[in-house]
Amino acid sequence: MAAPLLTVTDAVKTFGQMRAVDGASFEVAEGSITGLIGPNGAGKSTLFGAVAGETTLTSGRVTFAGEEIAERSATEIYARGLSRTFQIPRPFPKMTVLENVMLAATDQLGERFWNTWFRPGAVARQEREIRDRAHEVIAFCNLTAVERNLAGAISGGQKKLLELARVLMSDPKLILLDEPAAGVNPALLDTLVEKIVELNTRGKTFLIIEHNMDMVMSLCDPIIVLAQGKVICAGAPEEVAGNRAVIDAYLGEVVA
Ligand SMILES: Nc1ncnc2c1ncn2[C@@H]1O[C@H](COP(=O)(O)OP(=O)(O)O)[C@@H](O)[C@H]1O
Ligand SMILES: [Mg+2]
Repeated sequence: MAAPLLTVTDAVKTFGQMRAVDGASFEVAEGSITGLIGPNGAGKSTLFGAVAGETTLTSGRVTFAGEEIAERSATEIYARGLSRTFQIPRPFPKMTVLENVMLAATDQLGERFWNTWFRPGAVARQEREIRDRAHEVIAFCNLTAVERNLAGAISGGQKKLLELARVLMSDPKLILLDEPAAGVNPALLDTLVEKIVELNTRGKTFLIIEHNMDMVMSLCDPIIVLAQGKVICAGAPEEVAGNRAVIDAYLGEVVA
């Protein structure tokens, strides 16, 4: 059994009186494609935000790659190799697909004032490297045909692939995907699933929030079920699908 890459322990996140995350604990094993499911409002996206450092937990612990990160900033966590996509894709609509992907590169020398003045050669070299990497990542995500298009003008499914491309620029260890299948047509969905599997084979670990049960059941193992901010079940797909509490809290609603 591989050591957990991510461990969330007793996570609580309150908004005023409301406990959006209410004592959730779970692990993501290195090398896994772990699913996170549950009814709308269960606290899934809130957990993602807290794990990625966009918000701070009210209480609880988060360990990533052996280090406590609950108090770390989003930038620090991203630099350590944890990257997320958003439920609603957030590209810069008036920039091209290529520019959007290039912008996601970490450690851009050109942004550092001193380098621009004293090391223009290094900056140009770095920019070329980022451009080459962006082209690779765009090709991997089947976006080459639209790389000169404005990001605001591509299809919903292509925006999801663009989100994945941006995430891949930082070569993260752990990728959090928030509802990658939502609004994606079946052909692009197959592409997306294929890419996730291929990346996983190459060593990337995934934590995926998704409502598409066919996709979750075939792609994810284990699956964690969140309801009202608490983990009510975690296990292999068949265990989760047969669990009474899960059916009552969630699957009943999806199937009905
Ligand atoms: N910034 C916020 N301020 C207040 N309430 C929030 C905020 N973000 C989420 N919530 C509430 O927290 C609960 C969990 O939301 P969310 O994490 O988006 O659920 P899920 O992703 O599982 O559908 C919901 O009731 C939602 O309205
Ligand atoms: Mg959500």
